[in-house]
Amino acid sequence: MAMVCLSDFEAYAKKYLPKIAWDFFAAGADDCSTRDENILAYKRIHFRPRMLRDVSMMDIRTKLLGTEISFPVGIAPTGFHQLAWPDGEKSTARAAKAMNICYIASTYSTCTLEEISAAAPGSLRWFQLYIHRNRAVSQQLVQQAEALGFQGLVLTADLPYTGKRRDDVRNGFRLPPHMQLKNLEGAFEVCKMSLLDPSVTWNDIYWLRSLTHLPIIIKGILTKEDAELAVRHGVQGIIVSNHGGRQLDGGPATIDALVEVVEAVQGRVEVYLDGGIRKGSDVLKALALGAKCVFIGRPALWGLAYKGEEGLQEVLRILQDEFRLSMALAGCASVSEIGRHLVQFSKL
Ligand code: FNR
Repeated sequence: MAMVCLSDFEAYAKKYLPKIAWDFFAAGADDCSTRDENILAYKRIHFRPRMLRDVSMMDIRTKLLGTEISFPVGIAPTGFHQLAWPDGEKSTARAAKAMNICYIASTYSTCTLEEISAAAPGSLRWFQLYIHRNRAVSQQLVQQAEALGFQGLVLTADLPYTGKRRDDVRNGFRLPPHMQLKNLEGAFEVCKMSLLDPSVTWNDIYWLRSLTHLPIIIKGILTKEDAELAVRHGVQGIIVSNHGGRQLDGGPATIDALVEVVEAVQGRVEVYLDGGIRKGSDVLKALALGAKCVFIGRPALWGLAYKGEEGLQEVLRILQDEFRLSMALAGCASVSEIGRHLVQFSKL
């Protein structure tokens, strides 16, 4: 089967993953309107391409908080990679390193942070944190991540409780007994998500700040009000995200929310986006609307399900080639030439 675009990997994963794993990866909350809207919203945005601009030499590199990456796509934190491939997050880390992009490792990884670091030494990695009721566990994870060379701390803000994902409820989803949330071993019985702390507030950013020198990036922001609070609380980055539509159903598509967040932030911190990125032209639209970089969630899992590290690299290479081509066809030879002038919203 020739793999030409990211949907080919989706089709493969759907066909070959056990149903319970596929359903877990695909799930959105309630009737999945926000999950689907994340993708549909790109279709309402059109390019205003420019011509005759010498695109013979393309430079698609950019920087993430000062660190150079090969193109403006990274891997969003997702849990349970061993459900997709036996080597789990180790394969993800290796693929990200090979492509010179950023990998955000989830609190809910099925490999330890040590294993992830050892699999891809010296690579750009951020650690994603869910704050648990047992603050000592969270503190220890943050400090361990910093000691292991993770270069950013991503606080996920949109999960005080887990959204209602109907297929997971129907399937009675839980991790198979041979897989574990390796970073939380002993902290609580596997998959008791109720130990997430729903009392977290903006003040906890100060608590995190007291624990680590790492830059703090807040994930799950969708409004200008929260973007302003994030900046005021001293974060270094914001990820506009609705958790792939897995939390509050009925919220905006992230590409739509990006516009108001970017306007509120006014360049004071870097703004990123995840949700619904499936083509190189989606990446270009997000950058045109002010994102510094985007992250992929499910497509990375499809790549792993296809061929582990190699499959994920293939997904990233396709996205990279598509992004380069879209840039060239829109008349941009380097990332610095991408701007708001490049897109318009459909009047439909
Ligand atoms: C997620 N996401 C997520 N986010 C997070 O901060 N920590 C996590 O552990 C997880 N786990 C997770 C598992 C699965 C299976 C999915 C699909 C998503 C959300 C993720 O980081 C990201 O916001 C979305 O996946 C982006 O949307 P796309 O790219 O999947 O459309």
